[in-house]
Amino acid sequence: QPAPKLDVADGKQGFEHFMLKEIYEQGDVIERILNHYLDINGRQLNTGLQPGQSAAIEALNIVACGTSYYAACTARYWLESIAGIPTDTDLASEFRYRNRPMSSHTSNLFISQSGETADTLAALRYAKAIGCPCLSMNNVPTSTMALESDTILPTLAGPEIGVASTKAFMAQLTVLLLLSIDCARHNGSMDFDQELSLIKALHELPSLFHRQLLTQEPIIRLAQMMATSDHALFIGRGQAWPLAQEGALKLKEISYIHAEAYAAGELKHGPIALVDEQMPVVVIAPPDELQPKTLSNLREVASRGGKIILIADSQAIEASSEFITAAIPMPQVDPVLFPLLYTLPLQLLAYHVAKEKGLDIDKPRNLAKSVTVE
Ligand code: G6P
Repeated sequence: QPAPKLDVADGKQGFEHFMLKEIYEQGDVIERILNHYLDINGRQLNTGLQPGQSAAIEALNIVACGTSYYAACTARYWLESIAGIPTDTDLASEFRYRNRPMSSHTSNLFISQSGETADTLAALRYAKAIGCPCLSMNNVPTSTMALESDTILPTLAGPEIGVASTKAFMAQLTVLLLLSIDCARHNGSMDFDQELSLIKALHELPSLFHRQLLTQEPIIRLAQMMATSDHALFIGRGQAWPLAQEGALKLKEISYIHAEAYAAGELKHGPIALVDEQMPVVVIAPPDELQPKTLSNLREVASRGGKIILIADSQAIEASSEFITAAIPMPQVDPVLFPLLYTLPLQLLAYHVAKEKGLDIDKPRNLAKSVTVE
């Protein structure tokens, strides 16, 4: 990556856009979160929830909008598989009107970078009126949602200026993973050694980010190819599915390319009809137990002529080489951390496509950083 152009006067600290600066800050954000949520020895986790509070979460309802909603959908897999907590996710604009049966024992978590999004705030007030315990995860500690919640989990990403959320999403994922570990410890689903090994892996993530940021060339070349497309598909299974949704959202927000995400197993139920020689298909396939199935979906797409862009480990890339147009090789990491690691190339891809198209990356058309109307 060439040295960023100096543009200090406007607070971008040498980066061409706030979005790129914020992508680069993500390693520091993870370290800041770990420093905040771990005890002085950097070992024992403390989310600020009382042990009784996290052990008492038997089921969780997470409500959010936009990118924060995809953080919720990603966390659902952690909460269910690590902590054994059945988790529902809802878009705030739908949650408010679907008359979901709730009692005063239903635990709710509201996620919002700004803490001011009208729909999420209204959902919080709705749950409070029923008497439900309301946790919120915000990036602005003085926000209305932070002030009105029973308990706040700060995301500590620092001010995010780029309209397309990057470091706030990474911060939400990190805090959500810590919350899942905290609940797992208190309800007995995880022992201390497992907790320590995950925390150790989290501490190593910033240096993996750093290395990936030094090798953006393949992503830049790929972006040049994708910039001429009118449409793109993103597919993944398990946690790679909400990541595919976030990757597609990022691309449409700043590059104005029509991008859709599907759970890879759903492709054959309709969306595969969209695939032709013009269609780039981004396949997110981290090496987990679902990878063989995702790679088999990849071959289905390739046999219909789709241009496959594979984000996976080198072994999977090699095994699929005859079917793919381009690849982004990813380092090995504890599988629990895949969502954090695999977010970075998706952000960079969207960024470089928008840059290639010469668009206003920090202020995309028709979008606002915080939406305070319904
Ligand atoms: C707007 C922003 C998105 C953001 C969404 C939710 O649409 O453009 O980037 O994800 O609001 O915002 P929140 O502050 O509630 O996370």
